[in-house]
Amino acid sequence: MGEKVLVRKAETSAPIWQRVLLVLCISSMMMFSLFLVFDIESAIKWTGLSNLSETTVQYPVPGSHKSRIHAPILKDDESCLSRTQHLLYRRDSKVLPPSPALDEAWKRYRELHRSCSHGKNWTDHFLNGGQKTDPCNYLIFVEGGAGLGNKILALVSAFTYAFVTDRVLLIDSRKNLPSMLCEPFPGSSWILPDSFPYDQIESSPSLGAAIDKKFENFDVVNIHLEHIQGWGDQQFFCDDRHYSLMKVRWVAWTSTQYYATSMLALPSFWHRLDSLFPSKTDIFPRLARLIILPANHIWARVLRVYWGYLSCSGSRVGIQIRLHGRWDLAAFDAPVSARIRDCLTSHNLLPTTAVEENATQLSGLYSKHYHSEQDGKAVDIAVLIASLQIKYFEEMKELHSRYPSVDGRLVRVHMVSHGGREENTLEQAESALAEMWLLSFSDHLATSAYSTFGYVAQGLGGLRPYILNIRGENISNDGLPSCHIGQSIEPCTHFPQSPICEGSKPTPEHQAWLDKHMQPCQDQQSGLQLIYSDPAETLPT
Ligand SMILES: *[C@@H]1O[C@H](CO)[C@@H](O)[C@H](O)[C@H]1NC(C)=O
Ligand SMILES: *[C@@H]1O[C@H](CO)[C@@H](O)[C@H](O)[C@H]1NC(C)=O
Ligand SMILES: *[C@@H]1O[C@H](CO)[C@@H](O)[C@H](O)[C@H]1NC(C)=O
Ligand SMILES: *[C@@H]1O[C@H](CO)[C@@H](O)[C@H](O)[C@H]1NC(C)=O
Repeated sequence: MGEKVLVRKAETSAPIWQRVLLVLCISSMMMFSLFLVFDIESAIKWTGLSNLSETTVQYPVPGSHKSRIHAPILKDDESCLSRTQHLLYRRDSKVLPPSPALDEAWKRYRELHRSCSHGKNWTDHFLNGGQKTDPCNYLIFVEGGAGLGNKILALVSAFTYAFVTDRVLLIDSRKNLPSMLCEPFPGSSWILPDSFPYDQIESSPSLGAAIDKKFENFDVVNIHLEHIQGWGDQQFFCDDRHYSLMKVRWVAWTSTQYYATSMLALPSFWHRLDSLFPSKTDIFPRLARLIILPANHIWARVLRVYWGYLSCSGSRVGIQIRLHGRWDLAAFDAPVSARIRDCLTSHNLLPTTAVEENATQLSGLYSKHYHSEQDGKAVDIAVLIASLQIKYFEEMKELHSRYPSVDGRLVRVHMVSHGGREENTLEQAESALAEMWLLSFSDHLATSAYSTFGYVAQGLGGLRPYILNIRGENISNDGLPSCHIGQSIEPCTHFPQSPICEGSKPTPEHQAWLDKHMQPCQDQQSGLQLIYSDPAETLPT
C-alpha cells in the first residue's frame, strides 16, 4: 500500500522536475552559475567562507522555481565547489526544509573551531600545550581501515558528537579522507599535521580505564566504537558518562559504524539534537552535506559524469550493487542480476523489454526525441550503476540496446568504475565518493541490503531507497521479494549497543518518541534506524 502511494507522489512531482531539466539542458554550462541560486537548502548561510563576503552569500528563501532562477547570482567558493553547487543537482523535494536553530549552531560551531584552532601547532599543543588555561576540548577522528562507506558513517557520527558537545573536530592526516574532502570549517583546518604524535593517541587510556579511575587526571581518552565493543567502550552509550567525558580535553574516536541513532537515545543528547533538527530523523543528510563535501578534483569527476551521462533524461535511477554474506562480494551472480531487474521493473523504475520491434514506435523516435531534447529528455531514463562487478552493467546496457522496451521508453546505462574487488586504495575510494554523490542525485535509488555504501548515497540524497534483497550466498530459495521500499533516509545502525547504565533514563516523552521513531532496520533486524512516524505520508521516494 505504502509503496503505491509513494510512487504516485513521485509521479505527480514530475512536472517541476521537468521544468528544471528543461532549463538545465537548454542552457548548458554557460548559464551554470545562474543555477547556484537553487542553493537554498536549510537556510544554511555560509557566512564564514574565507573568500566570500557575508553579503554575497544570501541564499534565497525557498520559493517557486521561477523566483529562484531570478534571484541574484551567487559566487562559488573556489576552494570547494561542491559546497555551494551540490544542491543544484537535486530536486526541489530533496532540498531539506530550513532549520534556523541548526544554522545558528553551525555558525557558532565554525566560530568555535576557528577560535580554538587559531595559532595552534597541534603537535605542540597536544604534547605540552597550555592544557590548564585552554578553554577548548577536542575530538580526534582516527581513520580506521574499513571501506569508505563505514568511514563516512563513522566520521558523521564523530561530527555529531563533536557538534553536540562543542568539541573541535580534527582528523587524522595519515590516510585518505583529508585529501578527498573539502575543509568543512572555513577559516580553520581540521587536518592534523603529519608530525602529530598518533602513537600517543593510540596508546592512551580507553574509556573503561578512565571510568575505573573515575576520570581523575585523564587528559586523553581513546574511544573505540567498532562493531564489537567491550564493557568500557559500551559505556559511551550511557548518559552519565558524558558528564565525566566533558572534563576530558582530548577524545580520540575510532569507529566503523553509524552511531547518531544511539546518541538520540541518551537524554542529554536528545535534548540538544531536539532543538537542532526539526525532525531529528534527517541527521545524516543534514550533517553529511556539511562535512562530506568532495574536494574539487573529485567534484570535477562528478560533474563530468553528470553532464556527460545523467543529465537530459526524464528520470535518473541509481543502482548500487554490493553483495554481502558471501565469499566474493564482487561476484557476478545471475540470480542477483535477475532480482535487481525484477525489482526495477516491478516498481516501474525501468521498463520491461519486448522481443518484437514496433515499427510505429521506431518511426516516431525522431520527432519524439528531437523535440524533447529541448525539453531536457534526450532519453527517458538515465541509469547509473555502482558496482565492483562490470557485468551487471554490461548486461543491462546490452538488454536495453538490443531490445525495445514495451512502452518505447529509451534507457541509457552508465557506470563510473569497476574495481573488481575491494581494495582500500585512494583511487578506489575517490571513485567511490564520486559514485556516492552521483547516486545521491537520483530520482530513484536501489541499494544493496546491509551496504554502508548504499546508506551514504541514500543519506546524502535524502532518498528512501528500494532495498535489494541480494544478501547471502544463494538467494534462489530465500523466499524474499526482490526488494522493498526503505523506511528511512537514515543509515542503519548495524550494531547498536545496549549496556546496563546507571543514572538518567529517558523521560516518558523521550521514550515515547524513541518508540515511535527508532525501529529495527529492514535489512538487519538487530540494527536500529531512525524513521519518520508515517513514512508513506511524509517522504516521496
Ligand atoms: C582566496 O582567493 C585568493 C585569490 O582569489 C586565493 O589566492 C586564496 O587561495 C583563496 N583562499 C582560499 C582559502 O581559498
Ligand atoms: C610544531 O611543534 C612541534 C613540536 O614542538 C615541532 O617539532 C614542529 O616543528 C612544529 N611545527 C610547526 C609547523 O611549527
Ligand atoms: C506499437 O507502438 C504504438 C505506439 O506506442 C502502440 O500504439 C501499438 O499498440 C504498438 N504495437 C504493438 C504491436 O505493440
Ligand atoms: C541455490 O539453491 C538452489 C535451491 O536450493 C539450488 O538448486 C542451487 O543449486 C543453489 N545454487 C548454488 C550456486 O549453490
